[in-house]
Formats: sequence, C-alpha cells, structure tokens
Amino acid sequence: MSSKTPRRALITGGASGFGLATARALLEQGSQVAIGDVNTDQLKAAARALDHRNLLPLELDVTSKASAEAAVTACGDAFGGLDALVNSAGIIDFAPLEEIREENWDRVIAVDLKGVFLCCQAAAALLRDSGRRGRIVNIGSDASKVGWPTISSYCAAKFGVVGLTKSFAGEFAPYGVTVNCVCPAGVSTTGMGQYVLEFKRASSGKTPEEILAATASEIPLGRNPTADDIVNAILFFLADGSDFVTGVALDVEGGLLSTTARITGVRD
Ligand SMILES: NC(=O)c1ccc[n+]([C@@H]2O[C@H](COP(=O)([O-])OP(=O)(O)OC[C@H]3O[C@@H](n4cnc5c(N)ncnc54)[C@H](O)[C@@H]3O)[C@@H](O)[C@H]2O)c1
Repeated sequence: MSSKTPRRALITGGASGFGLATARALLEQGSQVAIGDVNTDQLKAAARALDHRNLLPLELDVTSKASAEAAVTACGDAFGGLDALVNSAGIIDFAPLEEIREENWDRVIAVDLKGVFLCCQAAAALLRDSGRRGRIVNIGSDASKVGWPTISSYCAAKFGVVGLTKSFAGEFAPYGVTVNCVCPAGVSTTGMGQYVLEFKRASSGKTPEEILAATASEIPLGRNPTADDIVNAILFFLADGSDFVTGVALDVEGGLLSTTARITGVRD
C-alpha cells in the first residue's frame, strides 16, 4: 500500500494551526476529513479556506463526552467509518504557581488531557473496526518532556498526553491500531504560537523578532520549527509505512531537548 493511502480522519482543533494544516495535507492525499473545533467562527473560515467536497466541519468541544461522541457518530455517518483520529485541540495558560487560577487549571486539564481521553474513547470502536489499521496521533509538546516555569498546568496535561499515548498504544495493539504522539517545540505561526509570542513580547519588552531569534539560538539545528515540520511528523504516524510504530512520543524540536551544538563550538 502507498504511504499516502487516503484515510477517513477526524482532527480535533482542526480549524486552526497544526490541525488545519494536517487537514489540508490529508485532503490533498484524497482523504475524507472531519475538522472538529469549539471555535465556530474559525471553523467556518477553515471550511471556506479548504473548500473541499471531502471536508466535514463539525462543532466539537473535546471537554464534553456527548460532543465527542456526536462528532464520531457524524464521521461514521458521513464516511462509513473512521481510520484516524488526530487530537490537536489545545490551550495554554501562563501563571506562576501562586497565581494559577483554579478555573484556568481545570480548563487546561479539561481541554489538553481529558479531551484526548474523551475523543480516544469515543472513536475507539470505529478505529478498531476500520479495517485499515487505525491511527491515533496525539499532539504533545516539548512541555511533555521537561518542566517549563509558569506553564505548569500545560506541562501536567502534556506529560499526561504521553502517558495516555503509551497506555492506549498497548490497549489498541491487538487490533493493529497505532497510537503515537508528536511533541513540537514552539511554532509561532499558529493560533497558540501567536498567543505565546504576544505573551512573551508583553512580559519581556522585546520585539517578536528578538524573541524568535533567541529561541532559534537555543535550538541545535539553528532555527525555529515550522508548522510543516510538525505536520510531516503527524503524516508519518498516519501513513501505512509506520504500521509497526506505536507508543512513541516523537520530539520535533531540532535537538532542543536531546543535544547541544554549543560545547563543540559548532554554534555560538
Ligand atoms: N504552536 C506551538 O508552539 C505548539 C507547540 C507544542 C504543542 N502545541 C500543541 O499543538 C496543538 C495545536 O495547537 P496550535 O499551535 O495549532 O494552536 P491553534 O490555537 O492554532 O489550534 C488549536 C485549536 O484547538 C481549538 N480548541 C481549543 N479548545 C477546544 C475545545 N475545547 N474543543 C475543540 N477544539 C478546541 C482552538 O479553537 C484551535 O482551533 C495543541 O495541542 C498545542 O498544545 C503547539
């Protein structure tokens, strides 16, 4: 089978950022794609931008079991089944420990962690029965692997996403369904990326260009990641060629958490 065999996919958070870019790539491969998102204005804009007969835009709140189940049912009705779930919906909250608002903590955990659980649970039966070696791809973060000050709720949720990935990988393995996680470093062009950049600008007084140059200088491969870098990793896990890869949390961060180019003098 070609590595680009079309799949019937549901992408949460599909109206923006990595989710939207993944939807575009899958549609270009001939896949049937549902984009589920809580932001209805963004969802309409995404549907207009993608403008494709194989696209199914769905209102979806991943924090609601009923909403997750309704989205999966809609995919089953429209596509006759489901081969892939990409959990890309996500939010972030900045606050040092003593200033974290309880409702913000709950919201981040609900969207970023519970949402992954609810959507995997809702899609489980269709993925098992897909007949196509189903796929789940979760989106973690570099905050899935190391702690970052002032985003502890996000870190807690994203570490948890790796735990869900590895647990569900074992549960789905008997059915040939793979479950993997992509862990990106910061990409400034998405909705969340813009929010993070603006937060850093407002709190540091630096320009966006200075901030991006500073983050790039920390990365051994010498640049910030792009949305394409992340989508390529998602597509790898969705492709038939990765049939034998499961339970992996793949860093897409230019070596940021794995190595350094400094000591050898490769880069200043
Ligand atoms: N951009 C980055 O730097 C970066 C880095 C690491 C990980 N991530 C992760 O990538 C994923 C996608 O983020 P992005 O950068 O594309 O940002 P984005 O803001 O462009 O996309 C996130 C989408 O999730 C949707 N969403 C939020 N709450 C939802 C809910 N309750 N139900 C359904 N949809 C909901 C938003 O409306 C938005 O369309 C997130 O899980 C994020 O944590 C992003």
